[in-house]
Amino acid sequence: MKAKAERGLVAVNGKQRVLLVFGTRPEAIKLLPVFLALKARPDAFDPICCVTGQHREMLDQVLTTFDVVPDFDLDLMRNGQSLAELNAAILSNLPPVLLATKPDLMLVQGDTTTSMAAALAAFYERIPVAHVEAGLRTDRIDAPFPEELNRRVAGLVSRYHFAPTEAARQNLLREGYAQDAVMVVGNTVVDAVRMVLARLDDEPAFRKSAESILDAAFDFDWRQRDYVLVTCHRRENQAQGLDEISRALSELSERHSDVRFALPVHPNPNVRNAVRAALSDHRGICLTEPLPYPAFLLALRHCSLVLTDSGGIQEEAPSLGKPVLVMREHTERIEGEEAGHARLIGTRCDDIVQVANRLLTDADELARMTPTINPYGDGFAAQRIADFLESRWRDPERAISEPEMLLTAAAPL
Ligand code: UD1
Ligand code: UDP
Repeated sequence: MKAKAERGLVAVNGKQRVLLVFGTRPEAIKLLPVFLALKARPDAFDPICCVTGQHREMLDQVLTTFDVVPDFDLDLMRNGQSLAELNAAILSNLPPVLLATKPDLMLVQGDTTTSMAAALAAFYERIPVAHVEAGLRTDRIDAPFPEELNRRVAGLVSRYHFAPTEAARQNLLREGYAQDAVMVVGNTVVDAVRMVLARLDDEPAFRKSAESILDAAFDFDWRQRDYVLVTCHRRENQAQGLDEISRALSELSERHSDVRFALPVHPNPNVRNAVRAALSDHRGICLTEPLPYPAFLLALRHCSLVLTDSGGIQEEAPSLGKPVLVMREHTERIEGEEAGHARLIGTRCDDIVQVANRLLTDADELARMTPTINPYGDGFAAQRIADFLESRWRDPERAISEPEMLLTAAAPL
């Protein structure tokens, strides 16, 4: 019982110190709404923000959008970093922050190297972890690679699991996680969309800045023209997958001279070099630098269709009423497909061309795929997470799930 009093289960001194650790663009987009929700309750929480810097420019873009300066920045990104090098760097650079801050709880998000290594570092220091966007599964350890492993490890060492959807909760229960440790709260990315769209709609200077960025980035009139918004970066799609995707885009742009294809290129050299080499000279295809988040949401709002292998964009697109073609072989996000506004189309050139072609020529088919609700959340997930953490903190008797109890029940990978 004494150990619990020291580590997060008993409200001894009022506020709960929560250390949020993240490192990439999507984690920042999905965790900063939680950071702000905790910050808005100064009587209950003392939130601390630590970034690993797994990403640099793309992470900084998001921190600027949400106007957050991290308390700690490990600044770990190296060009061409290997998974093992990054992992080792996080495991050796994060513990001093843990020792200096002595958090009652660590929050990590999703399935990146940062989430996995940070959760592991907390586990080694016996700091409780809560996992945001828990329970996504393809049940294939190599897809997405290495993310399926990362989220399973983060889950194994977590005390609380904030599942975005009921399907994600069911995955966790199937693996033996305790009912009272798993909460369905929605995906916090929908909170981020809600917050940024509100600013685009209500703050003229904020909107103007996003519009100017798109004016400069796109070589066509994005307010008037039909265009498809494209992104791709997954490791399992690099090399052959990217080659197929590039050929598909080039064929589609030749067939549809009235449609533009806008592709903000991920800075990973394996992606950047391949995409630029294949598509730089194509009329109809507009390659840009990664867009700041508000400009990207504006681009999403105005496009006709989305072609992507991204996770977060699949979850955001329904909020903007956009259908998504998912260029992957396996998906952990089944809700969009079940609702009929996302389609898993694989990464073969012919398949991508066939399905996209159909949607670009058949307005009724496109309309049928247009989402009217977002199955991933309602934009208030961060509040639910804050409510849950506050109630457990104030009522420790309810906090009974220990990660070590779960190990025996967890399913093999
Ligand atoms: C990582 C995540 C992936 C997530 C993606 C989001 C892992 C294993 N992968 O993949 O789950 O979908 O981020 O984008 O954690 N780079 C820059 N500037 C940046 C960011 C990246 O130059 O701001 C370059 C660097 O050369 C870096 C490389 O991209 O070494 C790869 O970055 P890394 O985070 O290792 O992998 P991602 O492919 O971005
Ligand atoms: N995004 C952005 N600018 C861009 C492309 C994407 O802000 O130019 C945002 C997008 O809105 C989404 C997130 O980045 O929230 C997705 O990141 P990414 O596709 O890199 O990672 P994933 O979601 O696949 O892990």
